[in-house]
Parts: sequence; C-alpha cells; structure tokens
Amino acid sequence: MGYEPRAGGLLMSGGSAANFVALSAMRERQLPGSRAEGMPGREDRPLVYASAEVHSCITRAVEFLGFGTNALRWVPVDDEWRMDVGALERMIADDRRVGATPVCVVATAGTVNTGAVDPLAEIGEVARREGLWFHVDGAYGAVGAALPELAERYRGLADADSLVVDPHKWLYVPYEAGAVLVRDPRDLHAAFATRAEYLEVGDEDYFSGPVWFHERGPQLSRGFRALKVWAVMRHIGLEGYRELWRRDLATAGELRRLAGSHDRIELFPSTDLSVSCFRYVPRHGNASEFNRRLLDRVHRDGRLFISGTTLDDEFFLRACIINFRSTPDDARIAIETVVELGEAMEGGG
Ligand SMILES: Cc1ncc(COP(=O)(O)O)c(C=O)c1O
Repeated sequence: MGYEPRAGGLLMSGGSAANFVALSAMRERQLPGSRAEGMPGREDRPLVYASAEVHSCITRAVEFLGFGTNALRWVPVDDEWRMDVGALERMIADDRRVGATPVCVVATAGTVNTGAVDPLAEIGEVARREGLWFHVDGAYGAVGAALPELAERYRGLADADSLVVDPHKWLYVPYEAGAVLVRDPRDLHAAFATRAEYLEVGDEDYFSGPVWFHERGPQLSRGFRALKVWAVMRHIGLEGYRELWRRDLATAGELRRLAGSHDRIELFPSTDLSVSCFRYVPRHGNASEFNRRLLDRVHRDGRLFISGTTLDDEFFLRACIINFRSTPDDARIAIETVVELGEAMEGGG
C-alpha cells in the first residue's frame, strides 16, 4: 500500500468495524477533546465529505461517532463514478462560508457498485490544503495498488492518513478480518487508549509485548485473527496474489465480454476492477422489476451467487469476483444461467 514501516494498525472483524476505528482516530485528531467532551451541539459544525458511491458503513461510523448523518456531505461523482474533485472543493468553500468546519474526506479505492477508484492524489491534495483528514476505504479494492499495471490509478494512496483493506475480501482470508492502517499509530492511541488498574501487568514487557492492541481499538478481548491473515499471505505471497488477482480480473473481463455481446443482456459500463453490473433485457415490462425477481430466482437456483444494486435509478445484477477458485469458465456459466432463468421467467416458468 506504500505506507512507511512505522505505520500501524489493527485487525478488526471487517471493513465496517475497520472504517469505524479509522474515523475514530480522525475525530480525536481533528476535534481534540471530543473523546472527553462528547459531541453534543457543537457550534463549529464539523463535516465529513464522501462520494455518493461510498459504502453505507461510513454513514454508520459517522452516526456512531456523534457527528450525525447530517454532517455527511455527499460529493457528486463524474461519468466514471469517481468523486468529482471540483465539486468537493466548491462544497468545502461553500460550507466554510456558512460557518461549518470541514474535518475529513473519505475516498474509496474500489467502490462496491462499480469498482471505481476515486482520484486519490487530487483528493489528498485538497485534504492537505484544507487541513482535512484523508481517509481511504479500500476494503475491497485497495489491493489493486499492488498490481503494476493498475498502480497509476492508485497514485496518492500512501498519502492517506488512514486506510482500510479487508483481508477477508480480495486477500482471500476466511471471514472475519478487516484491517485498519494509520500513517501514525499514535492517532489510534489518542482515540482509544484507556487506563484501568486491572489491566496493569507490571513493568516488564513479558506479557504486554511491544503493542497493547486494546489501546488501538474498541475491543479488549480479541481473537487471534492475525494467524490466519499471516498464514494465507505467507502461503500465497505477493507474486501468487498478483497471479490470482489477474485471473479474477480476467474472469470479470470475460463476464463483461459475454454480457456485452449477448442480445438479451445489458452491460452497465463499469471500471476494469472485478465488479461488473449487468441485467437481463426482458422483451416486455419493466427491466428493474424483472431483474429483482430474476435475482431471487438465481439465488434459489443455486448455481451462482451474485447480488443486485441500483445505478442511475435502475436495478442491475452485480457480480464481484474475489474467489481464488473462480475462472473465466464461471463467467460463461454465470451468463448462461442468467439467460436461461430469464427466458424461463418470460416463458411463464
Ligand atoms: C468499499 C467497502 N467498504 C466497506 C465494506 C464493508 O465491509 P464488511 O462487510 O467487511 O464490514 C464493503 C463491503 O462490501 C466495501 O465494499
């Protein structure tokens, strides 16, 4: 990810929990004393900026941390579903004019809907200039930065104050494991460290080791998540990951090629990460409504597991390929299955 070795972090249950920890660190750095004083009725009205494509767990983190959903400012996206940086700058200026206090911008490296990577370098630049904390949610897609052919689009990632990457997504580790990384681990300590007499273990390092992890996040008792993360990463290795990611990308590419060339399938334009959105084109009736029913049918059928999402107010099927067993042949099966079940539904089956 490009962070210096002195960066630190914590393994949590997944992306939602990891994003919460990152934004907790942000809150204490940007609003010193908020941990002690709480957040009621702040006159400086702190604001957090995120694109409209951000994952819903960011909304929840902003709520848990006492900012309230209304403190979240939705930045529009461009034609490629990436944050519009010009709009971000205009919104920050407008908000300052009315006395609010921009404190953080959340960019996404690999959005859940289309795999878009926000323009990180430009967003980081705005954050630096404006004194905002720069957080990147890369729960799904940040690992793409380790592929030389994709590295350019991740430029600026290492400038993030905090970053989330989920081992249980594209690092192929079994549930549950989400990592939060911070450029300066002292930010986690400032947000979470507490003193309790019953946790004292004496002056020797024998028990505590170099890091007391409970001082970096909300959990005291913790499972040994690091073991499985370490084991899988050791086993696969960086070159092994690159090979598997390229195969997943080839599978997604094949899915898009097949979807784009089939006359009963509409492909939604997406980026070239491993998320693709497409849908069956019914001969009659409303395509969104039809595909909602088709998705249920696909799940009951059981040959593939995909999800659905809404883009430009239209419902699409969504396939995210992050399984090391998926091959381009699965893409063929996926499209054949969707067409077969769609035609059966149209035929009244
Ligand atoms: C970009 C992004 N952020 C956060 C999350 C939430 O992660 P989790 O389900 O591990 O809590 C997801 C899950 O899909 C995601 O894609």
